[in-house]
Amino acid sequence: MQDLKTVSPRPFLKWAGGKGKLIQQYIPYFPTEFKTYYEPFLGGGAVFFHLLSAHSILTDINPELINAYRCVRDLVEAVILLLENHHLKHHKEYYYQVRSRAGTSEVERAARFIYLNKTCFNGLYRENSKGALNVPIGNYKNPTICNAELLRSVSVALKTAQIEVRPFDAVLNFAKTGKDFVYFDPPYYPLSPTSNFTAYSRHAFTEADQIKLKDIITKLVSLGVSVMLSNSDCLFIRELYKDFKIHTISAARAINSKGNKRGKIAEVLVTSY
Ligand SMILES: C[S@@+](CC[C@H](N)C(=O)[O-])C[C@H]1O[C@@H](n2cnc3c(N)ncnc32)[C@H](O)[C@@H]1O
Repeated sequence: MQDLKTVSPRPFLKWAGGKGKLIQQYIPYFPTEFKTYYEPFLGGGAVFFHLLSAHSILTDINPELINAYRCVRDLVEAVILLLENHHLKHHKEYYYQVRSRAGTSEVERAARFIYLNKTCFNGLYRENSKGALNVPIGNYKNPTICNAELLRSVSVALKTAQIEVRPFDAVLNFAKTGKDFVYFDPPYYPLSPTSNFTAYSRHAFTEADQIKLKDIITKLVSLGVSVMLSNSDCLFIRELYKDFKIHTISAARAINSKGNKRGKIAEVLVTSY
């Protein structure tokens, strides 16, 4: 086995809205001190993998995503074995076969989720209204389906993390003190009415949810919690957070499901401190 120290933990999934490329711009804005880190819209977890806080509470509403994180943490060798098997069998018909049937055990579901994430179109995990994955196969010559060393390194990084399926508002039951830091990365407020990049799951994220999130942030801040939020740079968000500090971040990213409309889009980073 390769020495674990040679592979640094980093996101092991492709995730729409992943923050990997933006972290460098975020660094000046992280709080200098905190004890417990909360990431209620976990997705690919780029900020967690940057901070690697020993006390982390990682949550998301997507049960398949959370199951994958938990299995990588607790059963990484079993996940690797199943993924290697998916890799051996990978071809177009096999992809659609796997897509059409849910795994039975937790570890089978985790390997299926990671396999589909690595091979589906644009790495987009998108569900239809019944919660089934409806993304076609991607056009990859030789996708990396099983990066065993990375998964082992991620498994170690996750060992002390609490990982749960929770809606974002549940954070109010947990983060309560000046020693807590919460980073919110919700599905973004859409920049245009035709934009569909907030559709991660059957749970749409509405304007009312953006307002509810702001109210939750206001409550957390009144308790002394340090809060940071990413969102799109638009009038609605700037107005909603006008009493907070707003920093402009420049992001080159795919903004539609075709993935070919890339350009410099401004995002904002909102902080309570
Ligand atoms: C922008 S992504 C997070 C990206 C992540 N920060 C990264 O670097 O990859 C938003 C996440 O919010 C989750 N989500 C959507 N609605 C939610 C809700 N009501 N409560 C909790 N999580 C939710 C989605 O499942 C998705 O994983």
